[in-house]
Amino acid sequence: MIYTSLHSHGFEKVLGLLKSHREEYLSGQDLSDVLKISRVAVWKHIKKIRMLGYEVESKQKLGYRLVHLTRRLLPWEVADGLETSRIGRRIYYFDSIDSTQTYATEIASESKDGDVVIAQKQTRGRGRMNRRWVSPDGGIWLSVILRPKSDSSLATMLPFAASVALADAIERILGVNVGLKWPNDILVNRKKAGGILVDVSLTSNQIDYAVIGVGVNFAIQAKRVEQAIKDTSSGVASLDSKNQRPVGLVQEFFKDLECTLDTLGNDGGKDVLYRWVKRSTTIGRNIVLNTTEGRIQGSAVRIDPDGALVIKQRNKIHRVLAGDIVRQSPR
Ligand code: BTN
Repeated sequence: MIYTSLHSHGFEKVLGLLKSHREEYLSGQDLSDVLKISRVAVWKHIKKIRMLGYEVESKQKLGYRLVHLTRRLLPWEVADGLETSRIGRRIYYFDSIDSTQTYATEIASESKDGDVVIAQKQTRGRGRMNRRWVSPDGGIWLSVILRPKSDSSLATMLPFAASVALADAIERILGVNVGLKWPNDILVNRKKAGGILVDVSLTSNQIDYAVIGVGVNFAIQAKRVEQAIKDTSSGVASLDSKNQRPVGLVQEFFKDLECTLDTLGNDGGKDVLYRWVKRSTTIGRNIVLNTTEGRIQGSAVRIDPDGALVIKQRNKIHRVLAGDIVRQSPR
């Protein structure tokens, strides 16, 4: 099933009334009178609302009462309290999809800056370096479409911008320390809690669109994901939600990302790299890195303004734009 913020849905008015009367019961007759719909229609809407993960209590003679909000990232839930002007203003939500990233790149050329694709689960989630991204029910799997008026130089900074925004949001909302492993793994307790995948389309050196794919292991079964991946160099962490809904984290991320992208446009990436290096678990360590040109072992020295990781190997300096760290020395 797909829901978008472009259409209104029949059940939304019933849901709106239940939300604004959380302390009391609303009878089927009241709902039918106020909304000028039949009792059968009210009942059908309630059934739909329950199917979307809301807990609605019903008591004989009293009526219906909303007990718990849904944990799903439905467009109207993300919109409620969202403090952005572009990101997340238009959302496409899927119960299940092959990959939000694939869908987002398909619609990107006709999309607006900040449109978002979200899924409850993905059947063919994509990770970096053509890897599979295991995306079970309930994690945060989304892709943000950007249409910046910029040349290609911005493209290498986008993964860094997205990862610092996500790290800050996780820390603020969930109160856990977040580290960043090059290029943009989100680490909590040295395990991978999330990742970023950026696809960019260029037309004569101008960005036509960029899609930032974000995967956050939010309240999922980390062991199961670990078993399914096998080839991970860091283990998998699931962010313990303590019964929090993921929507607060997503809203905070959208807000931080919008702000971070605005500064990126003004200072060319200085602030983003400063924030990234502060969180880095890579810089200053001895690392082993797989690249398309082979394996490099050395000390990670810095990130260059174009996003390249600089590695010192005896007297040789390597600059790597894409690769995979397979080992890092402890601090
Ligand atoms: C990585 O390999 O670390 C990046 C993982 C990115 C996964 C996200 S989940 C939402 C979006 N859709 C995808 O298919 N991939 C990205």
